[in-house]
Amino acid sequence: MKWWQKTIAYELYPKSFLDTKGQGTGTIRGIIEKLDYLSSLGIGAVWLTPVCRSPMVDNGYDIADYTDIDPSYGTMEDMDELFAKAKEKGIRIVIDLVFNHSSDQNPWFLASKQDRTNPYSDWYIWRDAKEDGSAPTNWRGIFGGSAWTWCEERGQYYLHTFAAQQPDLNWANPDVRRALYKAANFWVERGAGGFRVDAITYIRKPDVFADGTPDGEDGMVSVHDMTANTPGILDYLHEFKREVCDGHDIFTVAEANGVSADELKYWVGKDGAFDMLFEFSHINLEFKGVETWCRPDPWTLKDLKRALVNSQEATKDNGWYPVFFENHDKPRCIDHFFPHTEYPDRAAKLMGMLLYTLRGTPFLYQGQELGYRNVKWPSIDLYNDISSYGQYDFARREGLSEEKALECVHVFSRDSARTPMQWDDSPYAGFTSGTPWLPVHDDYQTQNAAAEDADPDSVLNWYRRLAEIRRNTEVLTEGDFQELMAESETVFAYQRTSGNGKAVILTNFSSEPVKYDVSLREGMQVRLTNVPGHEEGILQPLEAVLYADE
Ligand code: NOJ
Repeated sequence: MKWWQKTIAYELYPKSFLDTKGQGTGTIRGIIEKLDYLSSLGIGAVWLTPVCRSPMVDNGYDIADYTDIDPSYGTMEDMDELFAKAKEKGIRIVIDLVFNHSSDQNPWFLASKQDRTNPYSDWYIWRDAKEDGSAPTNWRGIFGGSAWTWCEERGQYYLHTFAAQQPDLNWANPDVRRALYKAANFWVERGAGGFRVDAITYIRKPDVFADGTPDGEDGMVSVHDMTANTPGILDYLHEFKREVCDGHDIFTVAEANGVSADELKYWVGKDGAFDMLFEFSHINLEFKGVETWCRPDPWTLKDLKRALVNSQEATKDNGWYPVFFENHDKPRCIDHFFPHTEYPDRAAKLMGMLLYTLRGTPFLYQGQELGYRNVKWPSIDLYNDISSYGQYDFARREGLSEEKALECVHVFSRDSARTPMQWDDSPYAGFTSGTPWLPVHDDYQTQNAAAEDADPDSVLNWYRRLAEIRRNTEVLTEGDFQELMAESETVFAYQRTSGNGKAVILTNFSSEPVKYDVSLREGMQVRLTNVPGHEEGILQPLEAVLYADE
């Protein structure tokens, strides 16, 4: 097995991690200061969301220079020190490659927009207006509004899958691809342990750009439905692998929604372009199609089980699964999977049990190890997240009241995952001595790293214990996966088996006790449970139990 298959990865959102300058936003030195904290969690790889120079319209996912550090985070010297100090602790740093689009302040775009003949003129996706002057197509950007913005200087529209400040790069141009591979290789040479590859499904555009059937009152159709996974995309991805990854002991995990099971083998594994794929079937249960916050679909535990089991099956013989229940774009998992629960601690621990015992590499998200919750701010103006505004406006246009539109933001806003880390109970939770860029969650006096460190039953110590068990129980990394109690509507259960042992994991998602057949755990001992005094044959509300024979 490769090192990254056995490790635990941590997604770190630098802007909200630790500020060492009193500026209200996190710094690279802040990450260096907390390397011991990450080690205490058994972390072997830290994925940093983008730290490159950026105007921060989308918190770094709008890059102005792919090989420079944003001054708010520090300097390249700080970054080199982070690579070196992390390595001493057995932690590899993973860089976020944002290659579908750049910032509109990137010198490539600033040149491209000048006219139609300069050397960068073909680096982005430019099209003429329709005869009536309107946008070339009726595509809606993922953050809302048209996916096209008019550029006066050039007299053309440019395409942006996300915000207007994030113009899409033209991957059909070999010069663009070469420049991007060069940037990625810059980070390999500096010591990157791997790459998380952003929004990669959008890089190949269709040959013909045409209007789609409107899916909303605005007369537009989501750009996702018109451009995601366009045939031919794999040629680019395999080229990326050859030019950047081959021959290096690094891993890649691509953010790629909507790749079908048949196609998977070309995307991951022996003949695939990447090592792992973040796909969202288990986390976008509310959205059968495009993610539209005001139109959530109902889902049940059976849907969640099906999505997780399918992913386990799909990566059984080929590829490897990155397990995750939170990231910087998603609600906190307690609120997401157990809205209104009376047992938030149990919920946090249950999700941790799944994260560390399903087959694959766990990706723990900043704050998840402390049991963080969603924020529910009383006005849309208090939010920072660009997509929250887009979704709110869309909901209002669809006829929802202010209150109802705000409720959707409470459930899905990305800001819930981005509030500052809560290190202790001092003002601003020890995150900054200045004013934090985003309000600290008001539960910080109890829900913080110092308090949880001191409490043996805390969520933080649960994650530490899970990491230790995982390290010492080979079957949890190497074993096969088989679902148990598949028909149950309340329990998600499975076993992990290998020549070296067996483990059984039982989790009760309901708020009622549920019986299970004790023969399932024959010959095994309880290794961990989130409800003190586990009673054989019964799972208490939200109980999670791990049995193992090692
Ligand atoms: C996916 C990233 O995770 C998200 O935060 C970002 O806004 C978009 N891609 C655009 O880069």
